[in-house]
Amino acid sequence: MPRKIIIDTDPGQDDAVAILLALGSPREIDVLGIVAVAGNVQVHQNATNALKILELAGRPDIPVYVGCERPMRHKLFTAEYIHGKTGLDGPDLAEPTIVPRDQHGVDYLIETLRREPTGTVTICALGPLTNLGMAFVKAPDIVPRIQEIVLMGGGLFEGGNVTPAAEFNIYVDPEAADVVFHSGVPITVVPLDVSHMMLTTQPRIERFRSLGNKTGVATAEMLDFFDRFDKAKYGWDGGPLHDPCVIAYLLKPGLFKGRHVNVAIETQSDLTRGMTVVDYWGVTGRVKNTNYLRSGDSDGFYDLLVERLSTLP
Ligand code: RIB
Ligand code: CA
Repeated sequence: MPRKIIIDTDPGQDDAVAILLALGSPREIDVLGIVAVAGNVQVHQNATNALKILELAGRPDIPVYVGCERPMRHKLFTAEYIHGKTGLDGPDLAEPTIVPRDQHGVDYLIETLRREPTGTVTICALGPLTNLGMAFVKAPDIVPRIQEIVLMGGGLFEGGNVTPAAEFNIYVDPEAADVVFHSGVPITVVPLDVSHMMLTTQPRIERFRSLGNKTGVATAEMLDFFDRFDKAKYGWDGGPLHDPCVIAYLLKPGLFKGRHVNVAIETQSDLTRGMTVVDYWGVTGRVKNTNYLRSGDSDGFYDLLVERLSTLP
């Protein structure tokens, strides 16, 4: 029975590859819907980008919803400097012929979690946690109904990527992250500690380009664009590929290693806003609220991506 998931996302080239990985794995994953959140770029553009990816993959049937336009407290901080003006720069993807549904993304999350049997829906969060945090505030009854949240965000050994302390998804909306990490929902975190092992080296990009399908060419063009900033910043031979690790974890958890720890979110300090304070060595006695992934098998990850994306149009 495929695992039912809702993808909450701010595409974002890496989000796009994560969505494609999910769509390329129909035996294991059933994507109920996609909810856009403000993050890499403005929320309506993120929704348009999600629609473009669904049409690229031949899945116009999957509903897309527009979620929150700004974080709970702070002014929206976006990342066009990484993802380009459209948020999906690189390939020349046609404007979508499909449109987002009318229902607000937060209400879609609430309605779906109330409708589906308890413990049968996993939330894959690939952007700031605003939609999820707002859903928990508006409808606390959905919290115990969620099977698991698997999210890309935070970091410990790799520090931050927006500030020395904070990773983008948590930095943008630390208050929403604080609500989620205090919720009691089972959480698995894919932090920078993992995604910085998953580098988009040129040979790996060429594997996508030579797949012989539209998806492979578009993926190569997305990654050619997406990794420029990080390659220059870190001096590595590829950029870190963050969000697809969330879906890869659902498909092959054995690719990753981690441990249950407490993760708390800094919301008070300007200096360390959005820092994930990870009690990796168990010194605080705080509740172990997170399955914190520490490492991943990059060759196995890219083999999985190539295998699954090869099945798409
Ligand atoms: O820090 C990386 C995260 O921020 C990824 O989800 C990327 O898409 C951006 O949203
Ligand atoms: Ca993202």
